[in-house]
Amino acid sequence: MAKSLAGKFILLCLVNPFLSAEIPSVSTALGTITGETKHVIFQKKQYDVDKYLGIPYAKPPTGKLRFKRPQPYGPFAEAYSATKFGLSCPQSFFLHFVPEENTSEDCLFLNIYVPRQGPDEPSGHAIMFFIHGGGFTMGSGKIYDGGVLSSVGNVIVVTINYRLGLLGFLDIDNVKASGNFGFYDQRLALQWVNENIGAFGGDKDRVTIFGESAGSMSVSLQMMFPQNEGLFRSGISESGALTLPGLYLENNIEIAKYYAENMSCSVEDMDEVFSCLQSATPESIIKVVSDTVASGGMAATVKVGTAPTIDGEFIKTNPADLYRKAVNEESEEINFFRTLKLMNGVNGKEGAMFLLMLGSDNLDELEITREQMNTQQIPGATAMVYGQRTVPEVVKQLLIAEYTDWENPDDPKKLREELVRLFGDIYFNVPAIEMSLVHSNASDVESYLYNFVPVLDKRLLPTPNWVNMSNHGDELGPVFGYNFDYKGLLNISDYTPPEWELELSERMMTYWTNFAKTSDPNKPVSDDVSSVVWPKYDVTSQSYIKIDREDSVGQYLFARETDFWKNTLTAVFDATEHAQTITSQYGSKDEQTCGKDGTCG
Ligand SMILES: *[C@@H]1O[C@H](CO)[C@@H](O)[C@H](O)[C@H]1NC(C)=O
Ligand SMILES: *[C@@H]1O[C@H](CO)[C@@H](O)[C@H](O)[C@H]1NC(C)=O
Ligand SMILES: *[C@@H]1O[C@H](CO)[C@@H](O)[C@H](O)[C@H]1NC(C)=O
Ligand SMILES: *[C@@H]1O[C@H](CO)[C@@H](O)[C@H](O)[C@H]1NC(C)=O
Ligand SMILES: *[C@@H]1O[C@H](CO)[C@@H](O)[C@H](O)[C@H]1NC(C)=O
Repeated sequence: MAKSLAGKFILLCLVNPFLSAEIPSVSTALGTITGETKHVIFQKKQYDVDKYLGIPYAKPPTGKLRFKRPQPYGPFAEAYSATKFGLSCPQSFFLHFVPEENTSEDCLFLNIYVPRQGPDEPSGHAIMFFIHGGGFTMGSGKIYDGGVLSSVGNVIVVTINYRLGLLGFLDIDNVKASGNFGFYDQRLALQWVNENIGAFGGDKDRVTIFGESAGSMSVSLQMMFPQNEGLFRSGISESGALTLPGLYLENNIEIAKYYAENMSCSVEDMDEVFSCLQSATPESIIKVVSDTVASGGMAATVKVGTAPTIDGEFIKTNPADLYRKAVNEESEEINFFRTLKLMNGVNGKEGAMFLLMLGSDNLDELEITREQMNTQQIPGATAMVYGQRTVPEVVKQLLIAEYTDWENPDDPKKLREELVRLFGDIYFNVPAIEMSLVHSNASDVESYLYNFVPVLDKRLLPTPNWVNMSNHGDELGPVFGYNFDYKGLLNISDYTPPEWELELSERMMTYWTNFAKTSDPNKPVSDDVSSVVWPKYDVTSQSYIKIDREDSVGQYLFARETDFWKNTLTAVFDATEHAQTITSQYGSKDEQTCGKDGTCG
């Protein structure tokens, strides 16, 4: 009885807004901003946190400002009451996990969580600036409540909205729509923080950007943009590296035409396409996406998927070539990247997320046949990685050899495990290791790597029961101290995780906020939170921490897989293309013997 009353009391505190006598208020150069003080409770300790929600950082990107880089909101006409979230940006509903009915194109808001405790340094609180994920098509800042993380870690947490989908990324290769607006939104919010966070007690010289999935790719792309110098000093990349293959388009002219055509506009010339998209309502733009996915399934998303583009400014060259570039040329982007401190990581079985795309209604019983693996999954994967390039048969053979359990080569249950491994390696594991290798391959670099593996009580994505490590997104609950929109995401009210997860969460929040404060996940707080010292990552030792029920240190995470994709397959590709060139120049190989340098005799 006493126990359940205590439980009720804690829940009341969590869900009821608690107004202190004094309304928190800060005066910034833009005007006065007032917020609200709330209690949060974590591991039976109560904290006070000041929340400032829904602060506009950009002019509404509507009308003539649609498809333009964001403009600063500017000063407030009167004291701004920041007590409720701004609306989320229009969502493309690729996946139906984040029901978000009430959205608006006027969505460029940020939220600030300031702990009531004094800062760890006289210069002010360190700042953690979060960029949400959702495939650049969905999500919003408000899902991630920074209250617990800011309180337990004693840092300021900032969350933001940025433009998504067509509205965030339309690039038709001209001044009318030059693409990557979403990234410029993130950057403008960072500039806002740089100029104004001092008034909230923040130390603008200790800003860490962090993000998950597309938010993590955003983090790594922002870290590679030298004009960002001074806006932040470190980044945490959770499951998403800019080196993801197959993501970047040169422009989205074809996609823009598809939208226009589907809205019954003329697509004769791009000016007409632009006017059509410029005057369309957000609802009609989103409807093109939902109709397309409804009739063509997930595979149809390529028709409507406006991804980041190589716009020549924010992204100069294809980031997927980073690894090769780092070795072969001097690059201002890579030099800037290495001046920043990186904490990078992936989860145990990231690839499990892609099982959703197989369209099976019972993933627990999923079986993959040898036939499906060889004729659908492997070719699908190579098409994704190598795009338009013709993939030589030998590359497919090597992939089959690599992604087979040779003790049970045709066992459909082993094959489904191998498929998860294949997806995980392509989309997350290899890109992440590439990024860490590139980042740390220089002197005086601070680089850390983690692998988050435990199976949590609640997973964020539908995950079959045979996937015995964490799936994509699973670390988010612990990182935010479970102060998370479980109702919106999983339709679960008042979620309390098991005790071991709360301990795990405290450890992770400590690593994350330590890194934000000192650029070292081991300092300043270590006492009885964690028993291991997280070693730095470098190309020789490749040390990392495995985050589990008990943390441990490991080496060479996905080193073999990375070598296989980046060195072995690349060499085979090059050799095959070389041989083909020689054959076409000098006739068939039967008639001539050709040396490695291309001379034939
Ligand atoms: C949507 O948001 C607007 C502005 O915050 C609000 O006035 C309206 O009531 C909301 N509508 C719904 C259905 O929640
Ligand atoms: C738009 O695309 C959907 C799905 O492919 C299709 O059903 C619909 O007929 C299209 N509308 C127009 C006007 O092209
Ligand atoms: C590190 O850099 C050196 C010099 O550019 C290069 O030869 C080497 O391949 C790089 N190592 C890795 C693991 O990228
Ligand atoms: C997960 O399952 C795989 C394949 O059945 C097995 O090899 C591995 O040891 C398991 N790992 C854990 C952490 O249970
Ligand atoms: C959410 O959960 C409630 C209570 O269990 C249930 O009645 C409701 O149908 C669920 N909503 C959705 C969208 O699944």
